Amino acid sequence: MGTTIQHHRHHFLNIKRIVTYFLYALIPLALLHYFLFSLSTCHSPPPHPNNTVPPSPPSSQAGGGRVVVVEHGGQRCDYSDGRWVFEPRGPLYNGTSCSTIKDGQNCMAHGRPDTGYLRWRWQPAQCDLPAFDPSSFLRLIRNKHVAFVGDSMARNQAESLLCLLATSEPPDLVYRGSSSSNSSDGDGEGDGDGDSSSKFRRWVFPAHNATVSIFWSPFLVKAMEKQEARGVRHNRVFLDAFDERWTSSLGRTDAVVLSVGHWFLLPGIYRENDEIVGCHYCPELNHTDTGFFDVFRKAIRRALREVVDAEKEKVVAATTFSPAHFEGEWDKAGACPKKDPYREGEKVMQYMDNEMRRIVLEEVAAAAAAAGDGGVRFEALDVTKLAMMRPDGHPGPYMYANPFAGGGGGGEGEEMRVQNDCVHWCLPGPVDTFNEILLQLMMRGR
Ligand SMILES: *[C@@H]1O[C@H](CO)[C@@H](O)[C@H](O)[C@H]1NC(C)=O
Ligand SMILES: *[C@@H]1O[C@H](CO)[C@@H](O)[C@H](O)[C@H]1NC(C)=O
Ligand SMILES: *[C@@H]1O[C@H](CO)[C@@H](O)[C@H](O)[C@H]1NC(C)=O
Ligand SMILES: *[C@@H]1O[C@H](CO)[C@@H](O)[C@H](O)[C@H]1NC(C)=O
Ligand SMILES: *[C@@H]1O[C@H](CO)[C@@H](O)[C@H](O)[C@H]1NC(C)=O
Repeated sequence: MGTTIQHHRHHFLNIKRIVTYFLYALIPLALLHYFLFSLSTCHSPPPHPNNTVPPSPPSSQAGGGRVVVVEHGGQRCDYSDGRWVFEPRGPLYNGTSCSTIKDGQNCMAHGRPDTGYLRWRWQPAQCDLPAFDPSSFLRLIRNKHVAFVGDSMARNQAESLLCLLATSEPPDLVYRGSSSSNSSDGDGEGDGDGDSSSKFRRWVFPAHNATVSIFWSPFLVKAMEKQEARGVRHNRVFLDAFDERWTSSLGRTDAVVLSVGHWFLLPGIYRENDEIVGCHYCPELNHTDTGFFDVFRKAIRRALREVVDAEKEKVVAATTFSPAHFEGEWDKAGACPKKDPYREGEKVMQYMDNEMRRIVLEEVAAAAAAAGDGGVRFEALDVTKLAMMRPDGHPGPYMYANPFAGGGGGGEGEEMRVQNDCVHWCLPGPVDTFNEILLQLMMRGR
């Protein structure tokens, strides 16, 4: 026990140092809130955070990567490690051909002038990743239901999948609401700056009777988002309570893609058995900052345990952390200015990104070992490296239409201010690759 505590204390010191200075130091938290909470088509501008930019971050340590191996057709292929190679063919869809692209990620329609970011293909180190085949995917999910559960990154991936599949068969939106069923009236979690009616959506591909749905659950467990506590808006998370908005639908799903992470970086209070077991950015509560790695692990573990208990055969894939790429000031042109992927070795993975990734890999491996040959198959959709290498794939200022036309997207001042999204991905964009890998994971074992 003593050694564990020692170990933890050491761990916390590390976390504290990194958390204090880490890469989000450049983004005021209020803005991060905005990106993560905003679900709507961004009609209202984000709150202009009152700029208290913390000290600039030191470059973080690299982390060693654990390799996740995926079997496919008798071969073992590690899709997590590789490089981006130029691919003249370009994406399957574009900003006008796909009608379900969220406004904030429709970089093409918003006037992003460069198109080079569309022409890259992920080349795993030791094998090939087949291009996405919409009809294969649709055949695979005939009479089935694929649910994406998580935060706005889960939604980003789901919307990519919808666009990819729509090139084969257009989907019908059959449900849209602020709760997971249309029997209840939502649950009063108005977050003010989002369109809560897109938190839970469901589409059907009629010719295949295939369903794709999105469930909003940024912590996977029960949480009250952005609750005010002594002047600071914290998320309140209950690590021992399931989020029934998605778990109650588990019995009707055949594949579940879990994707969370970024919300754990926000101020949060974590409870378990009526005790505060974690607290991040909460000095006013007189509680030690525990960082977020341990509570993130607990939430993932709890969610993975719950999908096993649901006793229906299914594939459960957990998408690993997808790093943000803020380089400059969040509200100036050039916040994430790169136009090309990083080349191999050009960029080391940040400590925090790698820890978040490692936690998911470890918990998925543990869940798979515990499940044995039961009905649930666990997979890690390990995208952290391929995502990390795509600083060029974010909307940046093109989260809004024509940000540089007529004085820009936000405010006055000597210098033009524009908001930048360097967290989510343009559609089409690198997130399409997540679904190329998802297809391979789902085909595994068939
Ligand atoms: C910061 O916020 C306070 C209170 O909301 C306001 O009075 C002040 O003018 C703001 N400062 C700047 C630089 O925006
Ligand atoms: C988008 O795709 C559609 C259908 O494939 C095509 O007709 C159109 O020209 C494309 N638009 C652009 C801007 O590439
Ligand atoms: C249609 O798909 C659902 C799963 O989403 C399944 O429960 C149902 O049985 C399917 N219908 C038919 C006719 O196969
Ligand atoms: C509500 O649910 C019922 C039964 O499942 C369905 O027939 C109806 O279309 C749904 N309404 C909406 C608005 O989704
Ligand atoms: C904060 O914690 C310290 C040490 O546990 C305690 O002595 C102090 O009374 C607490 N202050 C408040 C305001 O709770």
